[in-house]
Amino acid sequence: MQRPRVFASRPLPGSALQRLGAEVELQVWEGSRPPTPAELAQACADCEGLLCLLTDRIDQSLLDAAPSLRVISSCSVGVDHVDLSALADRRIPLGHTPHVLTDATADLTLALMLAACRRLPEAEAFVRSGQWTPERRWEPDMLLGRELRDATLGLIGLGPIGQAVARRAQGFGMRILGWTPSGRKVAGVENRSLEELLAEADILSLHLALTPETRHVIHADTFQRMRPEALLINTARGPLVDEAALLQALNSGQIAGAALDVFEAEPIGADHPLLQHPRVLVAPHIGSATASTRARMADMAVDNLLAGLRAEPMPHCANPGAWA
Ligand code: DGY
Repeated sequence: MQRPRVFASRPLPGSALQRLGAEVELQVWEGSRPPTPAELAQACADCEGLLCLLTDRIDQSLLDAAPSLRVISSCSVGVDHVDLSALADRRIPLGHTPHVLTDATADLTLALMLAACRRLPEAEAFVRSGQWTPERRWEPDMLLGRELRDATLGLIGLGPIGQAVARRAQGFGMRILGWTPSGRKVAGVENRSLEELLAEADILSLHLALTPETRHVIHADTFQRMRPEALLINTARGPLVDEAALLQALNSGQIAGAALDVFEAEPIGADHPLLQHPRVLVAPHIGSATASTRARMADMAVDNLLAGLRAEPMPHCANPGAWA
């Protein structure tokens, strides 16, 4: 029997693609950059399966160019790069990778929180640039930061990653408030309205999926409700935050700082004004970037794809309605 043709838009860490290659006719993108939409469409033209990343736009024009495509698996938990309504019309199931990146992303959230509160990028630059001289060996007021103990953390979104951040924050002795559109209750987290949370939190951390409803959930009005000491952390999706409003809030002293792993447009341009701001700490979307997590994501993406190709329910399907 002929094996299904599958295109993988990038090589993946671990051995997952080897396992996939043993079962399907696999072509893996060999470019040193992601495929353009036109290259992706061309590569998928006669494929039944696609293993993609969050950098691939999956929309109607791709589906039009790939009439045989019947299964898509994204090596990501977020699926905001996929037009789900276009998939629904063709009843194409979409796999994704929830849960396996929860701890890695929660770890990075705490890393950003600590780095911003203890001014680590400034401290490192101070040493490397030769400013740490015998005259300034140890000064009582040098590089003073903030402690997490007794600080109020406001979690916006209480899904698995928000909850994992809450557990870590409890260990640091923080007071934890939470708001989620579903009203979900989580042990150790005091529920608040969004307005109350914005007004009370010293540190706000975003853990929502990006949907039309959550786009710019943090905007000019929300910044006005925050405390001047507030630090905003985003390890979820860039477009949750209106970056122009964030810049304005930082410049006007409405909030104290931001630590961002994600941006409205990725990669953020090197000349973007947010990168010039002294109270903005940045990382290049590395929430899930540990070797073990990325290998687990790849395994899960392959499991989803193989199940879909066998017309079996995917272990983790982002649009289960597609099976109905
Ligand atoms: C995802 O999988 O959606 C994450 O953003 C990757 O880090």
